[in-house]
Parts: sequence; structure tokens; C-alpha cells
Amino acid sequence: MDPINLYEYEALAQARLTTMAYDYYASGAHDEITLRENHAAYDRIPLRYRVLRDISQRTTATTVLGHPLSMPVIVAPTAFHKLAHPDGEVATVRAAGQAGTLMILSTLSTTSIEEVMAAATGPVWFQLYVYKDRGATKALVQRAQAAGCSALVLTVDAQIWGRRERDVRNRFQLPAGLSVRNLMPAGQEAFPADVPGSGLAAYVASLFDQTLSWKDVEWLCSLTDLPVLLKGVVHPDDARQAADTGAAGVIVSNHGGRQLDTAPATIEALPAIVEAVDGKVEVLIDGGIRRGTDVVKALAYGAKAVAVGRPVLWGLAADGQRGVEKVLDILRYEVDLAMGLCGCAGVSEIGRDLID
Ligand code: FNR
Ligand code: LAC
Repeated sequence: MDPINLYEYEALAQARLTTMAYDYYASGAHDEITLRENHAAYDRIPLRYRVLRDISQRTTATTVLGHPLSMPVIVAPTAFHKLAHPDGEVATVRAAGQAGTLMILSTLSTTSIEEVMAAATGPVWFQLYVYKDRGATKALVQRAQAAGCSALVLTVDAQIWGRRERDVRNRFQLPAGLSVRNLMPAGQEAFPADVPGSGLAAYVASLFDQTLSWKDVEWLCSLTDLPVLLKGVVHPDDARQAADTGAAGVIVSNHGGRQLDTAPATIEALPAIVEAVDGKVEVLIDGGIRRGTDVVKALAYGAKAVAVGRPVLWGLAADGQRGVEKVLDILRYEVDLAMGLCGCAGVSEIGRDLID
């Protein structure tokens, strides 16, 4: 029998992956406190469901930055999908399209932007890491736009790398044949060899631009007509500044607990951010979303949609494109169920009254 929830997909994926790959996907920084809290914080929020509302005609459909989606759940950017399955990002983008949702493609994909876009049947946003080599960075932006990506997601919480001790211990490296494909033209596709700890941490330390600041958000907005979202915000002042600097959206994220350990659980950071941006930009959230009820809680606090990272990788490792489709289908089913049990026939009926 196929797994029936996201946790069972993780168990199946773990059985199929090497320890090095599973640990890379699963791990968080240091004591993994934020990693655990991201989900645990959802478990502490009770849903004060409403009764006696006609919920016979329900839909989970919504829009995110104007894109019509089948549900308020999108695919978060995660690196190196070919570590999970030989079809890699092509399988993921096909599954996202099939599920009627949107994928954010990582800069650090094991498939080129162009190959992914050739397989895409739904919207794709491109997640950008800013390299010291600004020519290479600009080329990524131009390629993403030319290939048909419809927004850029600038990740702002990872100029330096959180210490994932499992990767240090495993001396994390990509298996032969896999590389950071998008950086091939710049000759920056391979991890440094023979480093004592995580090869990815060494790659980032040598190539990512630690000077990244607000003026680069303006630089990025000037490079492209595409909307720019900032991913990795947990402070309301940063969210306000993002809106004032021309961002089209913010993604409340602590990088899945992989950067600063003891950063707040994202669901706890969300309400102040929604208040700070005051409807000027769309607010999305990721981190620890594993159940339909988690999605309903995020929407009740004012998120437009949520993104899922690891569960997509578990589906991919378990069963390629089909596994990712199943993970997304499970989430859609659970969102519909949670919504209906809360007395909501559509996402616009999910309000703060469910939690306050
Ligand atoms: C990530 N994340 C991430 N973020 C990003 O902006 N660019 C990236 O390349 C990656 N890569 C990546 C790899 C892996 C293995 C993980 C687990 C995460 C962070 C990701 O977009 C997202 O913020 C978290 O994964 C959300 O938490 P959950 O859903 O995994 O709990
Ligand atoms: C990570 C990346 C690639 O968290 O963002 O591993």
C-alpha cells in the first residue's frame, strides 16, 4: 500500500536514500531546535472550528501573485533533486504542474533552468542565490526570465551557511555525475574537493556574496521586470522594508531550521509580519508544514499560501514524479478536509476567528 501521509513518505524515502543524502535533506542546524519547533509550534495551536455552515460545495483553489492554483500549497526551493531520484527536478516540475500548483526552482538544481522549463506545465519561480561573481548572478536572472520563470525569489537568510553537523560528520559531497548545473557556464558547478567537513558549506563559503544587502534588492529589481519575493524573513521590520524596497512578496522562512538555530518557528513569526506589511505585499510561509491543518492555521494568520520543502523530496525519493504527485494530492485532500471541518467552503472563508 502507498504511504497515506507525509510522515510515511519520509520513512519510505529514508529506506531508499543513502545516509549522506537522507541526512542532507533531513537535517537542521546545530541542535535542530528550530527544525523541530517549525512543526511543533503548529501542534500547539488549537483550531476553534465553526459549525452549521453549508460546506457541501468546497474548493481549495486560490491565486498566488495572480497565478490560479488548485490549492494554497506550493513547492519550496530545495537543492539537488537528483540526489533523491534520477529524474530530479524534471520529475518535480511535472508533478507540480499535474497537481495544479507552482514550483520554486533552486539555483542549486541538478538540472538546468532551461531543461526544467522545457518540462514545466505550470508556473515556475526561480530562487536566486547571489554569487560574488555578479556577472554569473546576472546571467542566472536573465536565463530564468528568458526560460519563462514568472518571478524571482531572493533568498536572504543564507549568505553564510548554518552548521548542519550531520553534513560535517558525513563530509557531504555530491555523487559523481551530479553538479550545480546552472553554474556550469561560470565554471562554478563543483564543490571544492578534499575539504574536512561539508562540501556544500565549503562551496557556499567560497562563492556566495556575504555583502548582500538592501541595495542589492534594488539592484535585482532593476535587472528584471519579474516580481521579486524575499525568502527568509522572520522580523516584521525586515518585512516592512521588503515592501518599501519594491518586493512583491515575502516568504516567512527560517530555511527549514537549517540556518540560525533557535530562530523562531515561522508560524510564530507570521502574525507580526502580516500586520507589518498591512496588505501591501503577499505573504507566504514555509517550514514544518506536514498536515492540512497546518495550512489552514497559516492561512488563518494571513498567509496567502504555504510552501513545502522536505515532503516533496520524500515523495521524489520514494517514487519519482508519482511520489511528488501523491504528496501534493495528500496535502490537497487534507487541506480540503481541514477547511470543511472548520466550516469553510473556500480559502477566503478561513479567518483569524479560527485561532483567536
Ligand atoms: C532547502 N531550502 C532551500 N532554500 C532556498 O532558498 N534554496 C535552496 O536551494 C534550498 N535548498 C534546500 C535543500 C534542502 C534539502 C532543504 C530541506 C531545504 C529551504 C527550503 O526552501 C524551505 O525553506 C524549507 O525546506 C521549508 O521547510 P520544510 O517544509 O522542509 O520543513
Ligand atoms: C540548503 C540549501 C541549498 O539549505 O539552501 O541546503
